[in-house]
Amino acid sequence: MIGIFDSGAGGLSVFREVRKALPGAGVWYYGDTAWCPYGPRERGEIVQRAESITEMMLRGVPADAENCPEGMRGVDIIVVACNTATAAAIADLRAKYSDRSDSRVRERVLSLTDGRMDHVRFIGMEPAVKPAVSATKTGVIGVLATAGTLRGQKYHQMKDLYKGDAKVVEHVGEGFVELVEAWNLDSPDAERIVEHSLKPLLDEGADTIVLGCTHYPFLIDTIRRVARRLVPGRDVQVINPAPAVVKHLVDVMNQEQIPLADPKTPILIDASGDSASLRRIASLCL
Ligand code: DGL
Repeated sequence: MIGIFDSGAGGLSVFREVRKALPGAGVWYYGDTAWCPYGPRERGEIVQRAESITEMMLRGVPADAENCPEGMRGVDIIVVACNTATAAAIADLRAKYSDRSDSRVRERVLSLTDGRMDHVRFIGMEPAVKPAVSATKTGVIGVLATAGTLRGQKYHQMKDLYKGDAKVVEHVGEGFVELVEAWNLDSPDAERIVEHSLKPLLDEGADTIVLGCTHYPFLIDTIRRVARRLVPGRDVQVINPAPAVVKHLVDVMNQEQIPLADPKTPILIDASGDSASLRRIASLCL
């Protein structure tokens, strides 16, 4: 069973890729919708949320027990399908639940899983700057992400790493998460909101836009349309890192000998807030 979580519906853009790569896998998708958005929250608060979601998934007790399919159990691996939570919490999660050389980690995970496993691996999201460096012709890459991701140490380290290869500019996708949570993807309002954050990147000369938040791939058509209108002569590429992340997930599952398919293939869409509305969005995009 693969656990996938995000602040809300954004991680469904990763779930969609998991389904393509591993159609037989059991998946427990959790949207922390009562706490969405994560972007403006303090790091410590996001770490707490990520730890409590991890423990719930290891125990195998969903928030929405009523809609729990048959064959549900605790997860074997967790995808932090959220750039903001990855930036804030993945180091803490790995130290607390992945490091099997630490006996406290082994005891903690064994007790959460009733002896089923002694550590759990986490797959995180990172802004896909590396493929963008190969793709850019203007030498300028634009990163769209949340304030939390852009503030994080990881982002700055990555920007430093590529500073000799390309100019990397960034902007918060202001209002993007709210558009996706309301499933308002194509309206004139959505175009106006997208333009506000995309234009400064295009004005800097960016021809490659990295989507550094898992909500944003649902706006990819609008982002492309706005780019065509604002810079008609420029061939603007938009990069969604989800397929590469899922490739890495499959590699780690193989390393850890986690079965890639679950005979019962249970799928649960679970949330801390209104899980019916998350299920409605899932039915539209999966
Ligand atoms: N989808 C998330 C991300 O990838 C979180 C967005 C938010 O809740 O602010 O960053």
